[in-house]
Amino acid sequence: MSNKTLVILKPDCIQRGLTGEITARFEKKWFKLVASKMEVLSEEILKEHYAHIADKPFFPGLVSYLRSSPVIIQIRECTWIVPMVRQMIWVTNAAEAAPGTIRWDFALSIWANIIHASENEQEAGEEIVRFFWEGKSFDYKRCDEGLIYW
Ligand code: PPS
Repeated sequence: MSNKTLVILKPDCIQRGLTGEITARFEKKWFKLVASKMEVLSEEILKEHYAHIADKPFFPGLVSYLRSSPVIIQIRECTWIVPMVRQMIWVTNAAEAAPGTIRWDFALSIWANIIHASENEQEAGEEIVRFFWEGKSFDYKRCDEGLIYW
C-alpha cells in the first residue's frame, strides 16, 4: 500500500495567492511534506499526465491554462493519504463539491479547480515518478509523529 500521493497546486492557486491556504490544510491534517518544487510544466509532461483526456475538445485549452504560470508540485505522506487527500479536494467540478472541501471553498470552474491529486494508489505511484526524478522524496521525522495512529 502506498502512503504517498502527488499534488499539483495549479496556476489559479498560484496566481490567486492561495498556496498558503491550501498548504495549511494539509499541514494541519498531518499530511507530511516530503518533496516540493515550483516549475512551469512542459507540454510533453502534460500530454503524458493527461493522456486519458488528450482527445477531448477542451484539452488544448487545459494545457495552455496549466502552462500559464508555474505550479507547485508536492509529495505528501501519511497512512491512507491517497483517499484522504481526494476527500479534502472532492470532485472535478466545484459546483458539485461538498461544502468545506478545497474545491467547494476555492475553485472557480471545472479547469481552474485549484489542485490536482492522484485518484488512486496506482496513479500516485506513476505520478510521483513522473514528476520527481526516480520518485525521490525526503525521509525525516515530524516532532508530533508519535501521536499518529491511523
Ligand atoms: S476523467 O475523464 O474522469 O479522468 O476526467 P476528470 O478526472 O474529471 O478530469 C481530468 C482533468 O481535466 C480537467 N477537466 C476539464 N478542463 C477543461 N474543461 C473541461 N470541461 C474539463 N473537464 C475536466 C479537470 O480539471 C481535470 O484535472 P485534474 O488535474 O485531473 O483534476
